[in-house]
Amino acid sequence: MTIWNLGSINSDHFYGVDHLPEPGETVLSETMERGLGGKGANMSVAAARAAAHVSHIGAVGPDGQWAVDRLTEYGVDTRPIAQLDTPTGHAVIALDAAGENHIIVFPGANREISRDAIGLALSEAAPGDILLMQNETNEQAYAAETGSKLGLKVAYAAAPFSAQAVRQVLPHLDILVLNHIEMAQLVEETGLLPGPKLGVDTVIVTKGAAGCVFYDRSNGFDAIGFDAIPVDAVDTTGAGDTFTGYFLAGIDRGMAPEEAIGTAIKASALMVTRRGTADVIPDLKEVLDWS
Ligand code: RIB
Repeated sequence: MTIWNLGSINSDHFYGVDHLPEPGETVLSETMERGLGGKGANMSVAAARAAAHVSHIGAVGPDGQWAVDRLTEYGVDTRPIAQLDTPTGHAVIALDAAGENHIIVFPGANREISRDAIGLALSEAAPGDILLMQNETNEQAYAAETGSKLGLKVAYAAAPFSAQAVRQVLPHLDILVLNHIEMAQLVEETGLLPGPKLGVDTVIVTKGAAGCVFYDRSNGFDAIGFDAIPVDAVDTTGAGDTFTGYFLAGIDRGMAPEEAIGTAIKASALMVTRRGTADVIPDLKEVLDWS
């Protein structure tokens, strides 16, 4: 099966700082690195490294061929990525000594993906394939509706959180992954908790070092908690994306959700011990060998 990922592609610029800047404060950075990122690209790479066949639907600018080439090198099918006149998306990431971050994203070409490009890519999809989306592109509602009509399993990572964006895709979702802050925002906006009224079969709420909670229609949406693996975190950037990519790759391979969550927790724990985003996502062998 294939995971079709309508996803962002960013150039990530990392700045190491002693502490994250307060409003109005200027801080100096001693280090600057660039790598491949974007929540979409990170999830594509994670799923590909977890042995899934991934087709990335997205867009870059004239300056973005390096990012497409890198996704290809990492095993992602990049044929549905368009090259547009708008610059490639980029992210400015301040990273402090404790591994926490501030991220500013300029979406660029990520928000100019055409319906035609999405429709053309999904015309090759088969029922049972997975359609994955995050909120760093445009046309998520169109893609979700199209994917649902085609019999795809529609999955959404609600980041960066926008109540309006979630509301638009919610009727078409089978799987929703969000962190506990985003879940609180969703509850505030809709008044709905994971359950029959929310209408999404599978919901996973990630809680960083506190693990995650899994809700599924098959067990009446009872909350099932999973512990995280304690590690010395050096960089939490992209850990959630790694979790989602690994989880969906497991589902795609026919794993039970609980088993896929176990692998995803290991992958994201290993990820936070590394600095960087898509370029350092561990492969399945590293994850399985890691204890
Ligand atoms: O989740 C991490 C990602 O958020 C980074 O790669 C950055 O590009 C932003 O999209």
